[in-house]
Amino acid sequence: MAEEETLGIVQLVVILVVTVLFGGILIAFVFFLGRKERYTSENDKSSSNIKVEELKPPKEQYNKVDISKRTSSKSSKRTNAVVDHPKQFCVLKGHTSDVHHIEFSSNGKHLGSTSSDRTIRLWSVKSFNDKEHKYIRCNVDGDHATKINLTQDARAFISALSNGNKIRVFKVQKKTDGTGNIVSGDFDFPQEHKADIINVGVSATGKFIMSCSNDTTIIIWTLKGEVLNIINTNQVNNSFACISPCGRFVSSAGFTSDVRLYEIEFSKGGEFIQVSRAMDLKGHSAGVYHFSFSADCTRMATVSKDGTWKIWNIDVEYKKGEDPVLLSTGYFSGHHNEMLIAISPDAYIVAISMSRSIGVFDTVTGELVELLENIHSDNISSLSWHPSSHFFASAGGTDRHIRVWHNTAGMKAQIRDLETQLKKAKTESVKVRLERRILEARTTLEKMSS
Ligand SMILES: *[C@@H]1O[C@H](CO)[C@@H](O)[C@H](O)[C@H]1NC(C)=O
Ligand SMILES: *[C@@H]1O[C@H](CO)[C@@H](O)[C@H](O)[C@H]1NC(C)=O
Ligand SMILES: *[C@@H]1O[C@H](CO)[C@@H](O)[C@H](O)[C@H]1NC(C)=O
Repeated sequence: MAEEETLGIVQLVVILVVTVLFGGILIAFVFFLGRKERYTSENDKSSSNIKVEELKPPKEQYNKVDISKRTSSKSSKRTNAVVDHPKQFCVLKGHTSDVHHIEFSSNGKHLGSTSSDRTIRLWSVKSFNDKEHKYIRCNVDGDHATKINLTQDARAFISALSNGNKIRVFKVQKKTDGTGNIVSGDFDFPQEHKADIINVGVSATGKFIMSCSNDTTIIIWTLKGEVLNIINTNQVNNSFACISPCGRFVSSAGFTSDVRLYEIEFSKGGEFIQVSRAMDLKGHSAGVYHFSFSADCTRMATVSKDGTWKIWNIDVEYKKGEDPVLLSTGYFSGHHNEMLIAISPDAYIVAISMSRSIGVFDTVTGELVELLENIHSDNISSLSWHPSSHFFASAGGTDRHIRVWHNTAGMKAQIRDLETQLKKAKTESVKVRLERRILEARTTLEKMSS
């Protein structure tokens, strides 16, 4: 399967190169005109909104969310009220205050959410299809959680707490009467951060924990909360850091324009050895807000204040001095605070938050394939992909809602890719496998649209 995918990508790249060679001048010219127009139209109106005219999905039509009607009727308090969108899979309601962060567990069974209402909820993904969405609720006494990261099996998770700026480990246990699960705070880490903690993570390898604060500090911990290493990123201040899905790297972004990857090295016996600089992503011309990894750890997506987002191949021999390769650059218009970018685990699609909206872009062409416009009544605070790549979730900050979105665009991109691979497949067994996968993807897509 991995071989087919790399082959597919190689073929796509070849096609791209040819297209670029022949159509390059034309594209550059058209693009230049487009940008010029964009700037003039932005000067006319307020610059903080996305220009919907420009960002309309090229093909598919969808019913626009009619905000004006809603706001003029009953809900005068909520000026940004939204109605359910046709691409919405479900909406998770229950939090009674701001939702800060959401994250799917890597086994795909739960979605963790943190809120100012002093609860953490672990939503059951299985119940997304049901009328009532089930969750396990956990109270955070005297404080509230800002960030959450679940272990692979979702039997435990780690959270950053707001008031005390603490890191707390929580455990999920079976109730003694067998009627379900109970979540409780297990223990706190010693306080080492001198600035606000902006992210926490547990490595998929189970070897370490990472925390990052908004000065220039990243701390690598044992699972018990002993400090293994303190990294000074020297990036003026950190905007984001996280552990790669393979558990090998910790990556950071900040006020400077580069994104850094540090390798966290352990011996075969599991002893911590050292933290070393592995790779830098160099190409943005301003600070990077956010980034994410594909599930196989070969791709990264970054979004920057410079008005672009980029896709990188990080599957290089960095130990021999090879640099990550920039694969594509996309553009967005308008200024949005604290943008988020989430690449789908299968790397076909990126979802980018732009204030209250989400732009869904094709990672190969850079094209906007879907605009989920004003789908929250507050700026989006968090995005997370389900490991299947079939759907992703967004949290709307003070609107208290978590919305889950079908990834129809990604399924279509996958089908196109598989069909290209099928045309070039040489052996019968590869063909059969590809045909089966195309059928599966089509079935999934049909279910999403029904
Ligand atoms: C980050 O640091 C600044 C001070 O430099 C502070 O005002 C801000 O609230 C901090 N917290 C977060 C979560 O950004
Ligand atoms: C980060 O540093 C820059 C430059 O000093 C400053 O403008 C910005 O407000 C800082 N951000 C945070 C979150 O502290
Ligand atoms: C939402 O984002 C916009 C632009 O990104 C910003 O102007 C506005 O102040 C933000 N709203 C809140 C409530 O933070």
